[in-house]
Amino acid sequence: MIEEIEKHLADLKKIKIIDTDGLEKFRIKYISKKGIVPHLFSQLKNVPDSKKKEVGLKINSIKQTVNEIITIHKEKLSDKSQDDSFEDLTKPANFLKLGSRHPISIVKNKIIDIFLKVGFDISEGPEIEDDWHNFTALNLAEHHPARDMQDTFYISKNPDWLLRTHTSSVQIRHMENNDPPIRTISPGRVYRNEDISARSHCFFHQVEGLYVDKAVSFVDLKQTLLHFTKELFGKSKIRLRPSYFPFTEPSAELDIYWGLETEADYRITKGTGWLEILGCGMVDPNVLKNCNIDSEKFSGFAFGLGIERIAMLLYQIEDIRTLYENDLRFLNQFKSSI
Ligand code: PHE
Repeated sequence: MIEEIEKHLADLKKIKIIDTDGLEKFRIKYISKKGIVPHLFSQLKNVPDSKKKEVGLKINSIKQTVNEIITIHKEKLSDKSQDDSFEDLTKPANFLKLGSRHPISIVKNKIIDIFLKVGFDISEGPEIEDDWHNFTALNLAEHHPARDMQDTFYISKNPDWLLRTHTSSVQIRHMENNDPPIRTISPGRVYRNEDISARSHCFFHQVEGLYVDKAVSFVDLKQTLLHFTKELFGKSKIRLRPSYFPFTEPSAELDIYWGLETEADYRITKGTGWLEILGCGMVDPNVLKNCNIDSEKFSGFAFGLGIERIAMLLYQIEDIRTLYENDLRFLNQFKSSI
């Protein structure tokens, strides 16, 4: 019997298992109820007492070796089956986790989309501007009090370099380089030297629009903005409130009727139902002249809005700072096809 056992031990050293089927066959052969190991144990009663201990230990060592072989191969084969999944080109691809767009980009793209469809193009310009494009060409002479309206980050004095306070500067550049008809929107980041709080930040994003052609009137402005508010908010009641901007005359603020259905509506509209959305007006003839456009022949309208404000409205975001914190738990909530 010892010889038989030694032979099994020698066999085990040479064993080759290449797949899970082979492993299962091996398990059945050695340790299933009718396998070699139980069979050997059942023979133990025929072994003389003096040899029982030695033979028993040997059978046990077979059992142990078999178990070790099974454990090792189980691990190996499960690793291999994972490797195989990469090689098997017929298997479905691994799922790639998709990111989501930033809410500011979503709203910006929505606004761009609305205006592209009615014939506007997109213009962009530098964030570091000179005084001419940010102020002077926009009808804000050197000591114009309205310069205080937009607290400015100056980079240098003489020559005046600053961080643009609005993307109206892009409109000036666009008018300098293009002849009417002009229909353009200028999305971009702007900077203002303001305290950071839940409602304001030292930078934000704008989309400004400009339309210059023969006989552009206030009616065109109103109709364009009505179309915009219908598309973006699904609201069709607007009002234009007289206002003041140095670069437009007359100037107005556009309010939309948001409604007073929920408690939140009361809070965000301060109980009035109306919400201020953007500033606008007819381009001041001086601005056209500054860009070498004949103000006798051409007229235009312009408007400008803050993207953050609108994103906060649409997504009921209470604190502007959450837009810049890059907290994935916040950002992952925004899925959009645009
Ligand atoms: N440039 C103005 C601002 O940043 C917005 C505006 C643009 C107002 C065009 C009127 C016309 O506040």
